[in-house]
Amino acid sequence: MFEKSRETRQKVAVVSGASGGIGRALCHQLRQRGYRVIGLSRQQAPAAETSYVDCMLACNLSDSQSIHETARTIGQACTSIDLFIFCAGVISPQPVATLEHAPVIEQIQTNLLGVMLLTNAILPTMAKDSHIIYANSMAGIFPLAGSSVYTASKFGLRGFALALEQELKPRHIRVSSVFPGSVNTPMLATEMEHGGSVLNFMSAPQEPEAIATWILSSHVRNHVENFPSSFDRLFCSLFLWSPAFLRLCLPLMTAWAKSRRAHYRKSDRNT
Ligand SMILES: NC(=O)c1ccc[n+]([C@@H]2O[C@H](COP(=O)([O-])OP(=O)(O)OC[C@H]3O[C@@H](n4cnc5c(N)ncnc54)[C@H](OP(=O)(O)O)[C@@H]3O)[C@@H](O)[C@H]2O)c1
Repeated sequence: MFEKSRETRQKVAVVSGASGGIGRALCHQLRQRGYRVIGLSRQQAPAAETSYVDCMLACNLSDSQSIHETARTIGQACTSIDLFIFCAGVISPQPVATLEHAPVIEQIQTNLLGVMLLTNAILPTMAKDSHIIYANSMAGIFPLAGSSVYTASKFGLRGFALALEQELKPRHIRVSSVFPGSVNTPMLATEMEHGGSVLNFMSAPQEPEAIATWILSSHVRNHVENFPSSFDRLFCSLFLWSPAFLRLCLPLMTAWAKSRRAHYRKSDRNT
């Protein structure tokens, strides 16, 4: 169903969360760059609606059997993968005190456990000199009150990626993470609707196409962790170095983000 990459010598990219705002933009741009693109999504939409990928496979990151089957199907569909972008993710913003168990489990399974299991399952298919990119978040660097579980999943993902990067170096497989600020996608809409952290608005929300271009530019840069700007990189490093510094900055950051959110709500970009 899907030509073997080595036979055609066309590079293969796999994108999880391919039906989402950022994932779909990534798939479009990867195809423009000449990749054969395998998308992963829980939904099985008609082919006409998924023309931005060469092939859409079913994958539910909350289901270990589905993960196993997806990896097997990918292995049958191509001899090797050159680029794997883990872009699926879910958020259920709510204070921990009011959280039901189901969204806790769903966020950890989708954002962390499922990602680790799928990584494990596809490693035999990763080509020499291939690259794995994890879509992390600013929540993977500084804690977002009201999104504690999402924060925990992204902190965990950061640690996983950093350790994996060391493990896979001898196999010549690169591992890196990207930490976008807010992006104008259904996920941000969910956060706006359900009282997500105002700190999402520290920087103006970007369009998914711009973020996809930036993520793909990280493929050519050789950084293990990629931030939207040097300013973000500096502050994130300072926050990790000192939680006390983070606490000191939080009131200022919150006030700034509130004014940005008000500006965003007035604009027509969130319609
Ligand atoms: N939007 C932002 O402001 C923002 C900021 C920083 C980082 N990020 C990160 O960027 C990534 C993409 O976010 P987005 O904004 O593009 O989100 P989105 O538009 O809401 O898309 C989410 C994607 O995740 C997939 N997904 C959800 N649950 C899944 C599951 N159990 N198994 C498999 N796939 C599942 C969805 O696919 P199906 O429903 O088709 O299965 C969908 O394709 C996420 O990892 C997110 O944490 C987003």
